[in-house]
Amino acid sequence: MAYRHFEFIEKHVWTLGIATAIMVSLGGLAEITPLYMEANKVQPADGLKPYSPLRLAGRDIYVREGCYLCHSQMIRALRFETQRYGPYSTASESVYDRPFQWGSKRTGPDLARVGGKYSDEWQRVHLLNPRDVVPASNMPAYPWLAKATVNGQDIQERMRVLRTLGHPYSEAEISLAPKEVAGKTELDALIAYLQGLGIDNVPRQAGAAASTAGERKP
Ligand code: HEC
Repeated sequence: MAYRHFEFIEKHVWTLGIATAIMVSLGGLAEITPLYMEANKVQPADGLKPYSPLRLAGRDIYVREGCYLCHSQMIRALRFETQRYGPYSTASESVYDRPFQWGSKRTGPDLARVGGKYSDEWQRVHLLNPRDVVPASNMPAYPWLAKATVNGQDIQERMRVLRTLGHPYSEAEISLAPKEVAGKTELDALIAYLQGLGIDNVPRQAGAAASTAGERKP
């Protein structure tokens, strides 16, 4: 009788432990395997381009400075989120983000669609001292960004590495990269990155366009 088997398992701690481990592993596999298969299927959204050299440099500065500790880049598919921030985020927008910057910590607002919301000048003043434009802000100031310049060779190397991971940079784009970033400060690069968020690197999404709640505010 099956009951006797259960009794045997329950009275022998090692058998019970091994049987439990097998069942938990099977459950885990059933949950995790489909997620891995999905992840491999995510394709770049239509019209999505890899970051330009200057924006790529800006993105790395964003990561270096830990902006993600206070800002997410993932708009959830909830009405109050799309009304505030714009169309919700999809995985296919982030295929050229390594590592992606989705995050969940929101001491400051979500930045997934912040591009074009303010002028370059506003961003410059805000990054140098947030309190100059938002008096009650508790965001730190980043004055050193205006003093450091972007290294063109370094960006070329990064583009080459990303190309091995499947980012479609052409040889011409890579060889022109030092010219594009020549003389630019880290502040310029970071602003270029911010101004592209939700504009340059995000194509129109069929699903999001259908949601009137997700219209961008001017
Ligand atoms: C300690 C938390 C914190 C960190 C770290 C931080 N921010 Fe902020 N950020 C905020 C807060 C709070 C606001 C809202 C007040 C304001 O506009 O200054 C904000 C606002 C912003 C805005 C305006 C967003 C909008 O829609 O109005 C931008 C752009 C921004 N931050 C960029 C950055 C960048 C880039 C970095 C990294 C260099 C960064 N932040 C680091 C807290 C932070």
